[in-house]
Amino acid sequence: MDLLRRNRRLRTHPSIRAMVRETTLTPDDFIVPLFVAEGKRLRDEIPSMPGYYRLSLDTLAAEVKSLWGMGLKSVLLFVKVADSLKDNAGAEALNPDGLMQRAVRTVKEACPGMWVMTDVALDPFSAYGHDGIVAHGKILNDATAEVLAEMSVSHAQAGADMVAPSDMMDGRIQVIRQGLDAAGYTDTGIMSYSAKYASAFYGPFRDALDSAPVAAEQVPADKKTYQMDPANRIEALRETEMDIAEGADIVMVKPGLCYLDIVREVRDAFDVPVAVYQVSGEYAMLKAAAEKGWLDHDAVMMEQLLSIKRAGADLIASYFARDAVSLLG
Ligand code: PBG
Repeated sequence: MDLLRRNRRLRTHPSIRAMVRETTLTPDDFIVPLFVAEGKRLRDEIPSMPGYYRLSLDTLAAEVKSLWGMGLKSVLLFVKVADSLKDNAGAEALNPDGLMQRAVRTVKEACPGMWVMTDVALDPFSAYGHDGIVAHGKILNDATAEVLAEMSVSHAQAGADMVAPSDMMDGRIQVIRQGLDAAGYTDTGIMSYSAKYASAFYGPFRDALDSAPVAAEQVPADKKTYQMDPANRIEALRETEMDIAEGADIVMVKPGLCYLDIVREVRDAFDVPVAVYQVSGEYAMLKAAAEKGWLDHDAVMMEQLLSIKRAGADLIASYFARDAVSLLG
């Protein structure tokens, strides 16, 4: 063939492939989600998340030191709350000695440089597994946002660097920002779950925290009145724009792989860092296929993470963070 351009020239050798590679992963890209539970020396494997654990505070301290040693710089904390402490309004979430508050202090003591983000939502504290207060067939938006602001202040008091509201109530970023500022926490950041879809990929996470929503007070056992319809694209831009206007420092698209079109659009449309949450069901799918010998775990993991970054993610919250960074070498 008489070809002037042959694209394969730039693929002939590992060196030139590395030189022209457009996207690379580094430890700085990752946020490590961690599940915290009461107990001692606990490393309790989550059945639907093989290789992922609920940690007690002592093992959490060791874990964050080890992550820090690998170059990982940020954790996102979630707590598993005892049923006896759950109610409809998240009272336990405001306990200055609650598990989240103690977890934040534990991480900061063990590893002062670690950037600590906290999940802000009612579901782990809700007797109904909902992200808001349930009443008369509704999730109460404004009353929930007030609790989330108090929760955020409580996390900031414990030492959190950034709060991460994952609830999808309208206006909560504004209410949280005002609450933090009024309490003097002007430097405490907000990473907003801005385009969070009502996804079926959250199942294993709900196993981990025992937080699956139930039908209660005429509210169904799903989150479709607050999380977004997976069919919608334009709405994701509207949600993100509003969260930025309300004061979000980082915005998020969640889940990851099925929503990479949204990631690209959000990245192109706005000028704040964009995080992507590769969620529990995405982790579980690969683990299951790899256990069966149907997929090459490490190769698929790296391809997925790279694709999330190529789509426009500045940050990736992923249960694969540790494995991926150890492969980066
Ligand atoms: C709850 C919350 C969920 C996740 C993060 N925060 C689940 C839900 O909305 O029901 C999911 C994370 C995952 O699946 O890995 N506020």
